[in-house]
Amino acid sequence: MHDKIKNEELIKLLKLDSDFISGAEIARALGVTRAAIWKKIKLLKKSGYRIETSYSKGYRLTHSPDLSIEEVRNALSDSGQVIGREILFFDTIGSTNTLASEYAGKDCPEGTVIIAEHQTGGRGRRGRVWASPPGANIYMSIIVRPSLCPRDASLLTLMTAVACAAAVRKLSPIPVSIKWPNDIMVTDKKLGGILTEMKADMERISYAVLGIGLNINLDRADMPDEIKALATSVKSETGNAASRTSFIIEILKELEHWYALLLREGRAPVIKEWLRLSSTIGRTVTVSTNADRFTGIAEGIDDEGMLILRLPDQSTRTINSGDVVYARSS
Ligand code: BTN
Repeated sequence: MHDKIKNEELIKLLKLDSDFISGAEIARALGVTRAAIWKKIKLLKKSGYRIETSYSKGYRLTHSPDLSIEEVRNALSDSGQVIGREILFFDTIGSTNTLASEYAGKDCPEGTVIIAEHQTGGRGRRGRVWASPPGANIYMSIIVRPSLCPRDASLLTLMTAVACAAAVRKLSPIPVSIKWPNDIMVTDKKLGGILTEMKADMERISYAVLGIGLNINLDRADMPDEIKALATSVKSETGNAASRTSFIIEILKELEHWYALLLREGRAPVIKEWLRLSSTIGRTVTVSTNADRFTGIAEGIDDEGMLILRLPDQSTRTINSGDVVYARSS
């Protein structure tokens, strides 16, 4: 019986008022028995909610966990957003991107979001592992079905980087920037990354999965050794734990905005904002591609998001994929 109660509906009621709400009132609003509510409250407590219970007064929500899918759903449900109209949550999963690709292949709606507390096979760009311990970070994949040709797929990556950087800047004082193509950076340390994967034929993208990994409450001491010197988290930067719920909501709202703009007005606004948030352009960089390594000045990006590099012999080279390292002096 308590399974009939949707977590988000119960949380919404509990959050209406900072005072107690009676079991009878909840039962009336949700059309279920008081016993069913009591069982559901017990389950919510197990997943990190603190709910005061009084025989005479009812229930009072005093604390939500820092990752509350119910609150994400509630924040987006009335907005009519495409991004986040379905949100699926998993405690442990191989990779949110892998599952999102499977679902996308089975016609699930555009805007479906998959979030995991823990990934056992988190994947990064260029075949790397993305360390995904539980309890601290955001691992999330969004399915989109844009009417774009595959040549323009990199715009989706640039757009996702813009959305993440904008969300972090809104919610914290951290001066994040974007390192080409899609690293979310705090000076020379990586706060997050984006892995875009897609299925397409010659003419059009059938679906794309926008995978976002963002370090929120990971303490430096808990970072795997291989990334300790290179990575950071919101908590390491500000000294305070942050609400993953708020970051997810803000990223999804920003994505809604930038995705609609991309489809409506084309690439120009996304590229303009990417350039504004980027720390790469104008700097001396070394770019490692699969086969080569080039050092030069990053002059800009072209219409498809490729990096334009001015080499020491004054020729330019356009690079579509690689890892950028900033030169120390610049
Ligand atoms: C990078 O290498 O910078 C990209 C990292 C992307 C990691 C995210 S976490 C959620 C999603 N699922 C994955 O397996 N990878 C992406």
